[in-house]
Amino acid sequence: MKKTFFTGAFVFLSTFLFFYCAKQVDKDTGSTSATFSSINSNIIQAKCITCHATANSGNGNVDLSSYARVIATAGVFSASSPTSSKFFTQINAGLMPLGGSKLSDAQIQAVSDWVTAGALNN
Ligand code: HEC
Repeated sequence: MKKTFFTGAFVFLSTFLFFYCAKQVDKDTGSTSATFSSINSNIIQAKCITCHATANSGNGNVDLSSYARVIATAGVFSASSPTSSKFFTQINAGLMPLGGSKLSDAQIQAVSDWVTAGALNN
């Protein structure tokens, strides 16, 4: 009886830990896809918003709080050209997030693909 309880508790905890860790890994390495909603939750909210919640002279006047503000202030434009987008060039060069580690190749690629596709609000 006691053994059954411990086995049950072990299985429960392992399952919980597995899914909890899987979620963390997902957040870090980014199964980020080339849509604004994915980029917003996996990159902007996770790594940029602490410094870019409003535009001010201390953060280059870059406001990443909404799609409209990202387009208007982060030099994304709908130009379909990642290299003319400051949002892309800053993360690609590892300059942003300031003081943090460079985003993963997959995340940088997702931003490039999103801009190339027209930087849509999708
Ligand atoms: C610790 C604070 C901090 C974090 C986190 C941060 N930034 Fe910045 N960002 C700054 C500051 C300060 C500036 C203005 C000075 C500069 O350009 O280095 C700036 C400037 C920028 C600029 C304009 C650069 C230019 O040359 O005009 C862009 C675009 C940008 N950040 C995007 C991002 C993105 C995207 C992220 C998240 C991946 C991010 N930032 C995370 C502090 C931060």
